[in-house]
Amino acid sequence: MQKSDRKPKFLKDYAPPDFLIEEVALDVALAPKAARVVSRLRIRPNPKVATGGKPLVLDGEDLTLESLTLDGKMLSAVDYEVKDGSLTIKRVPARPFTLEVITTCDPEANTELSGLYLSRSTYCTQCEPEGFRRITYFLDRPDVLAVYTVRIEAERDTAPVLLSNGNPVAQGDIPSTNRHFATWHDPFPKPSYLFALVGGNLAAVPDEFVTQSGRKVALTIYVEPGKEDRCAWAMESLKRSMRWDEERFGREYDLDVFNIVAVSDFNMGAMENKGLNIFNDKLVLARPDTASDGDYVSIESVIAHEYFHNWTGDRVTCRDWFQLCLKEGLTVFRDQEFTGDTRSGPVERIGAVRILKSNQFPEDAGPLAHPVRPPSFIEINNFYTATVYEKGAEVCRMLQTLLGREGFRKGLDLYFERHDSEAVTVEDFVAAMADVSGRDLKQFMRWYTQAGTPELACSLDYDAHAKTARLTVSQIIPPTPGQAKKEPMLIPLKVGLIGANGDELPLTLADGIPLADGLLEVTEREQVFEFQDIPTPPTPSLLRNFSAPVRLSTNLDPGQIEFLMAHDSDPFNRWQAAQTYATNLLTDAARDGGNIERVTGKKAARLAQALAATARDSSLLTAYRAEFLKLPGEADIARELARNVDTDAVHGAREALRKKIGEEIRETLTELYEANAESGPYSPDPESAGRRALRNAALDLLVATGDASEIARAERHYRDATNMTDSIAALAILSHLAAPVRDKALDHFYARWQDEPLVLDKWFAVQARAASSSSVETARTLLSHPKFSLKNPNRVRALIGSFIHGNPTGLNRPDGAGYQLLAEQALEIDGFNPHMAARLLGAFESWRILEPIRQARAKSVLQDLAARTLSTDSYEIVTKTLGDG
Ligand code: PHE
Ligand code: ZN
Repeated sequence: MQKSDRKPKFLKDYAPPDFLIEEVALDVALAPKAARVVSRLRIRPNPKVATGGKPLVLDGEDLTLESLTLDGKMLSAVDYEVKDGSLTIKRVPARPFTLEVITTCDPEANTELSGLYLSRSTYCTQCEPEGFRRITYFLDRPDVLAVYTVRIEAERDTAPVLLSNGNPVAQGDIPSTNRHFATWHDPFPKPSYLFALVGGNLAAVPDEFVTQSGRKVALTIYVEPGKEDRCAWAMESLKRSMRWDEERFGREYDLDVFNIVAVSDFNMGAMENKGLNIFNDKLVLARPDTASDGDYVSIESVIAHEYFHNWTGDRVTCRDWFQLCLKEGLTVFRDQEFTGDTRSGPVERIGAVRILKSNQFPEDAGPLAHPVRPPSFIEINNFYTATVYEKGAEVCRMLQTLLGREGFRKGLDLYFERHDSEAVTVEDFVAAMADVSGRDLKQFMRWYTQAGTPELACSLDYDAHAKTARLTVSQIIPPTPGQAKKEPMLIPLKVGLIGANGDELPLTLADGIPLADGLLEVTEREQVFEFQDIPTPPTPSLLRNFSAPVRLSTNLDPGQIEFLMAHDSDPFNRWQAAQTYATNLLTDAARDGGNIERVTGKKAARLAQALAATARDSSLLTAYRAEFLKLPGEADIARELARNVDTDAVHGAREALRKKIGEEIRETLTELYEANAESGPYSPDPESAGRRALRNAALDLLVATGDASEIARAERHYRDATNMTDSIAALAILSHLAAPVRDKALDHFYARWQDEPLVLDKWFAVQARAASSSSVETARTLLSHPKFSLKNPNRVRALIGSFIHGNPTGLNRPDGAGYQLLAEQALEIDGFNPHMAARLLGAFESWRILEPIRQARAKSVLQDLAARTLSTDSYEIVTKTLGDG
């Protein structure tokens, strides 16, 4: 494997390309072992750079060069040099010229799943970020934008479907052969990372969309034959996304066709190639019996995400990979808004914040912390992170909060108007926002450059005599690797004050200015906001709707938090209050060695009653009520503890609290379980899904009582399930129990679904997540199961991914067996798919918050890894995770 070197690359070293490539004509002959690519490039010296006499250096990896022709003249070996990762043509004209490059690559041997590879028998490509160079020699960087015409030829029988970006222009048979061809043309200039090509025996599911200006777009989803009946939801989601982007952001689709291809081997979720999105099939295929409500939601949001990239990413792209958040953060923000608008704003917000806190906060607090726009990287593949995506989305959301929905929309309009068909930077994006609002966003830029989660401490003091409430706010941004000192950030802090009877109090600042939307702007390290005319002591509701990605601490007492749980008019904060109350109980218990008395007493009982009150409240959406019955996860508790974490103590405390809640409100839970029973055929709509979520959450707490009749209820739930949502919820609950109920259900599930890969993944996942003293051994047994394969990323994520992210007591077993399992599997995967391996190794990121014994075990496993031969990807993760200490 030819790989780039291990030297970091720096944002500050950015230089524009010496040459531009304006037109690309590719002729690709597909064959499993030697796909032949004829590439004709129209190249010219970059007028913005003095190139006189500079050689042309093209990127290339794992390619076999057959010939090179410049302006019709064949070059000989003395004219160029092929090295690891590059092709240098020593002398090129100082005017536009045409270069023809003929190479072959080996799709069958491509186990990295980057470049041109085979997924089962389908040829497909993945070019972001640096995969195009594995298809042909090129200036493989996002600031080189070209217009592509692509001719593909392949065997008619094995690859009847041939697709590329843009619009189809020609197709036909190649006379007297068994081969045929198709030609595609994409009129929009694009960077090479958005190139895509597919060839295979695929079934087409067609549909149509008429844009707001009346243009017809042919939509097609391509899947393995036999899977056509699982595309309806993805198609419906696509059409709704297209409509929503027109209505909310005025963005219309721009080609005659939009194609989606589902493949079973894919390193990530999906890819936004212009006009030809390629998807992990997990995020396309859904049928009520095979996909859960959660799957339906993910499909809807990823279909939307990739579609939205057509404007945020494709039409306006990134100048360099340091700007990745420019397209990813913005597009995640857009897909979150879509989900919020089409489902429920608060439920979406709760979900997004859960993900941010569980994935991004640990990253920001650990050795891999980096700003939303990293200043350097060794391997760009390692920077598709929660910080770039999720915190990046929060940064866009803060801009919308500060500018208002309308202001933000105007800013985005200006951004598209200014930069259509350009490769730009974060500065360009923020400049558009500054220009439409007339605001100075210089301080705001720190969100892109400073790593670490700001800690916001708020305390409210009431002056009964003056009838004023003073809110003191201070911010601390903790040091992160390479950034010891931080400057204060601009933090939008949405607040409310709630009177004793639960009413919102009108907010008037000391200078008499009404604060209608409750939005404060924190800009200093310490700041005081004074509110006038507050008749009685209020309860503050702080950081409403999670208005900034910060860690909040307050001087609220348990009584006030309980009050907010019942009365906060901000639905997000009402939920947050319940989470905070539970987290406080759980961290106290975990610090006390898992002392369960702390979670079985009066406070726990009060929590249980409060949860029951909201869960019963039929004026609220069912999906929202369900969120109240889900306690903070073990990783959430560990994160709050932040040091000396004993994962067994955390697990014990949480299990005890679940049991306590189950016992305390058993009657309510039983009622909820019964009242929300399924009637009629399955529908994935939010209200039906909400009912299932509420019912399954109630069941989970009922079973936590350990009562035999509740376990029998779970067994019945599994047996009677008429859809995957209920079936997998019951199986997950049963999988935590001791044999034989557990084994019986698992065996039944396996027998039914062994030939359905995406469903079988769920079978691997529930077992990998089940906490028990032998969970490492269980995971090992599953690793040698005949249906397990390290080569399929979905299966690896189902088993190894679920174990390392969903089984904290297993991964962190004090004897180090969990770490060993991870290290050894990652090492093996590293040999053929470094990107995948490095992602798994990210699970070590929080090792320093553990208690000393586990810390020592993790460290020695990491040190052992560091001493091995690793890919650049894994090397970067392992060495940074170990750090200097
Ligand atoms: N750009 C893809 C997205 O929409 C993610 C991706 C990155 C896919 C790299 C493959 C490789 O988020
Ligand atoms: Zn994306």
